[in-house]
Amino acid sequence: MGSGWGDKVKVSIFGESHGTAIGVVIDGLPSGVKIDMDEVYAQMARRAPGNDRTATPRKESDTPHILSGMLDNVTTGAPLAAVIQNTNTRSKDYGNIMNAPRPGHSDYTAYLRYEGFNDVRGGGHFSGRLTANMVFAGAIIRQILQKKGIDIAAHIYSIGEACDEPFEPTGISDELISRLNKEKFALIDTSREDALRSVVSDAAAKGDSVGGVVECIIQGMPAGVGNPMFGGVENVISSVVFGVPAVKGIEFGSGFEGSKMRGSQNNDEFFYDENGKVRTRTNNHGGALGGITSGMPIVFRAAIKPTASISIEQNTVDLTKAENTTLSVKGRHDPCIVTRAVSVIEAAAAIAAINLI
Ligand SMILES: Cc1cc2nc3c(=O)[nH]c(=O)nc-3n(C[C@H](O)[C@H](O)[C@H](O)COP(=O)(O)O)c2cc1C
Repeated sequence: MGSGWGDKVKVSIFGESHGTAIGVVIDGLPSGVKIDMDEVYAQMARRAPGNDRTATPRKESDTPHILSGMLDNVTTGAPLAAVIQNTNTRSKDYGNIMNAPRPGHSDYTAYLRYEGFNDVRGGGHFSGRLTANMVFAGAIIRQILQKKGIDIAAHIYSIGEACDEPFEPTGISDELISRLNKEKFALIDTSREDALRSVVSDAAAKGDSVGGVVECIIQGMPAGVGNPMFGGVENVISSVVFGVPAVKGIEFGSGFEGSKMRGSQNNDEFFYDENGKVRTRTNNHGGALGGITSGMPIVFRAAIKPTASISIEQNTVDLTKAENTTLSVKGRHDPCIVTRAVSVIEAAAAIAAINLI
């Protein structure tokens, strides 16, 4: 098992949901960058469990303890290592998973791959808990990107069939970026909050779960970054975004809807703006053409599946007895992952962006 990504700024994640701690090592950060730790804690709190009623009631403080790479809140250039203690584990809730892998979860495939030796408690290394590390790394990296004029924001684009307003793809205001960056239930149109929340509560009341889409924007990326074919901007971002458990799809710009348009509708016409800069009037290309940034915002949407762990009884198999059985998942789970995934997707975008520039 190895959970490292990146060739310039490398993020390596370790830990298991119900082990002593989880943690992350970030290699390749520049030295001498002053980090606002209150901002890092604020980002961690947006993802932390127990902070929103759409999320698991498992309460974890998610305080990162920095072991190396920072002195007086300034990066030293050494690998930045941090651990986050697991303080609220209830492994007995997961006792029957070895005999009954959860449909939709990684229990069965992890059992195959690691021959039954992987830690299954709370999903082990496959747990959404591991994404606290991504948010920590992302919160540090975003501050470095911000100093270069690159900002990242995401919001809940949809939960089930209920939708927020989409991003204006040609660019959003600094005020909106800063507001969304603080939200735990991040919406552009806050008047839609009750409608989206009720989709989650309806599913939860039935012991079920619901999925949705997170939309993310990276604004201020320099034009001309990226590579054709395999090293493209979309490839790099997708590679990190698919590292977020429960992500099952990604689209850039007009994405799948664009495939239904004519070229005359989907093409983004170029023009010189008042500063003599080449821009496009629309942004169906989502900020990248031929894998290379155009200077327009990078806009993508990640599809998050409904939480696999549900209390509704489902069919599964008992691997020890080689017979069919049923499972109703006990324990504390997010009826909807989308809310907490917003800050994780932003972090994934930051990890990708710093490697691209
Ligand atoms: C923030 C976050 C929280 C999650 N919480 C849960 C959870 O409570 N229960 C669950 O079954 N899956 C949860 N997941 C998703 C699983 O970890 C994921 O579905 C599983 O590892 C299988 O991977 P896959 O869905 O990417 O194929 C969470 C994911 C994230 C990003």
